[in-house]
Amino acid sequence: MHTNYLLKLKDIKEGLALTLRFNKFIIRYWKIQVLIFMLGNSSMVLGLVNPYIGKFILDKGILGRSPEALLGYSIVAAGIFVVGLILSLTYDYLKNYTVVKVEADLSREVFRKIKRQSLGQLQTLPSAISLFRITNDISNASTIINVILVHFISVVLKIIFITIIILFLNPLLLGIILAYQVLVLLRVGIVSRITEMLNRLSLRQSEIIYKKLNNFFSRMYLHKVFGTVARESREYMHHFFDALRLNMRGARLRVQIGLATSLVDKVFFGLISFIGALLVIKGRITFGTLSAILMYISQGIVAYSALTGLAGQLVVNRVPLERLSTLLDQPEEPGVSRVGTHKPADIREIKADDLSFGYKPGISVVSGIHFVIPAGAHVGLVGYSGCGKTTLISLLLDLYEPQKGKISLGGIALDTIDHGYQLQNIGVCLQEPFLFDTSIAENILYANKRAARGDIIETLRLAEATGFINELPETIDAQIGEEGYRLSQGQKQRIAIARALVKKPQVLILDEAMSSLDSPTEEKIIANIRSNFPQSTLIIVSHRISAVRGMDAIYFMAGPNRMYIGTHDQLLKDNPLYRDFFSTQLGSA
Ligand SMILES: Nc1ncnc2c1ncn2[C@@H]1O[C@H](COP(=O)(O)OP(=O)(O)OP(=O)(O)O)[C@@H](O)[C@H]1O
Ligand SMILES: [Mg+2]
Repeated sequence: MHTNYLLKLKDIKEGLALTLRFNKFIIRYWKIQVLIFMLGNSSMVLGLVNPYIGKFILDKGILGRSPEALLGYSIVAAGIFVVGLILSLTYDYLKNYTVVKVEADLSREVFRKIKRQSLGQLQTLPSAISLFRITNDISNASTIINVILVHFISVVLKIIFITIIILFLNPLLLGIILAYQVLVLLRVGIVSRITEMLNRLSLRQSEIIYKKLNNFFSRMYLHKVFGTVARESREYMHHFFDALRLNMRGARLRVQIGLATSLVDKVFFGLISFIGALLVIKGRITFGTLSAILMYISQGIVAYSALTGLAGQLVVNRVPLERLSTLLDQPEEPGVSRVGTHKPADIREIKADDLSFGYKPGISVVSGIHFVIPAGAHVGLVGYSGCGKTTLISLLLDLYEPQKGKISLGGIALDTIDHGYQLQNIGVCLQEPFLFDTSIAENILYANKRAARGDIIETLRLAEATGFINELPETIDAQIGEEGYRLSQGQKQRIAIARALVKKPQVLILDEAMSSLDSPTEEKIIANIRSNFPQSTLIIVSHRISAVRGMDAIYFMAGPNRMYIGTHDQLLKDNPLYRDFFSTQLGSA
């Protein structure tokens, strides 16, 4: 059990390797690092000179009863002190400066990585946890990778210097000091290990709290409806108190360790002072030498705990470094990182050849399907819930990489088309409107920053949104609240449709985008779109027969490898599966 509490060399090595992996972030600032190094060492050397001058003040000035020597050495000591102070302040400033710089660079790198990740990779972590990690890990990591190199070398140098000076002043006392250092090493090992374990626990706890808190506030409506506000807040508080208890445990431990450490250090210091004093009495060393040695020991204790503290930090801070490494090491999905360059003028024809895809290995959502949607066709895409309609659309948008086969737009293979260009020319509207907490106009501008006010008003008219918007005092400048909570679901959907239309896309995809609207409004919107975008390819996914009945063709997904294509009337006549699919709606029609 208690070997668990011992820090092993392996842990330090691992921590060091992990930290060095991030070295490119500080090597960029090597000039500043060199400056920091020189400043740190200059102020360190000055700090080392002072006790020696103190020795002269005592031995030559005070005990030698020479006021001139006293004054001379004192002025030198004061001068050195002031210069040292200026140097160490500059050192601190530059160190903070590089920490900030490294934090900015690291954030940039992480976001570059995030941009290249696929939707699937990004969705593996809940957003609250990503948020927590991005802020917490980057800041912790930049601090640790900054201090390591320069700090480490400086501290080692300082300890070497102090050891040599004490050896020169009195070898016997040095022996005792070295023996004590072994004890300190053991102590730091245990402390680092325990701190690391607490740190891991507390980070995990913080993530749970973030997630809970996020769920609590973002689903307030649900909690009210289910009467679970009290329960949810109780659960949050429960986790919160768990975290507090953990922090208290950590704080208590730190106080205990701090007390024990300083007590042992004081005893050691007392012992050395006592032995030193005996040596002074016996005339083996001067009083000044003893005073200098004691000062060096104080400095040495500080440097030594800084050194072992650094080793400890390497271990304790492994968590953020590990997680950032994992993130930065993640393979980029080909679909996301590829750089297609084609910008075909006409991408309206959509073709799938032997297309296969599944989210999990062995389970296909679509398997070897073929179809063509001709340029400018207005089609319906239908099928049972969960059959893969949204997945197929995600594939057309190049959000996932097909496992087999290919998709082409306007006769050009999707994976050679410039991804940004492709998305610019496709308008998408989903069942969930995903609106931002800003004005109606801003929500529409999201899709096309250059849209004029007139365009916004016009697209809102096509989406049958003019009526309710004109009743708002601020019309299109009205703030809609988080997720658009001040609007009805159908009103939100209409704004989302306008947002897709404002791009004047070559291909327009409405994936159950009107599910909350009444049928007459839905039909009016479809008619508006069809007459205003006669040239665009239009794909409407809907479970309602009224929405798709009049389309040029219906694409009916009946199974992973079965896609039936025809007009509504043809399919009704020839395809029993299609008849089944719409049977209840046909019966009531
Ligand atoms: N991100 C995902 N990870 C894993 N499986 C998924 C993911 N998204 C969808 N699926 C699964 O893929 C299948 C097809 O889902 P998809 O959303 O494409 O269906 P759909 O036809 O659009 O259904 P609906 O009519 O209900 O919207 C479902 O079985 C679903 O559980
Ligand atoms: Mg769907």
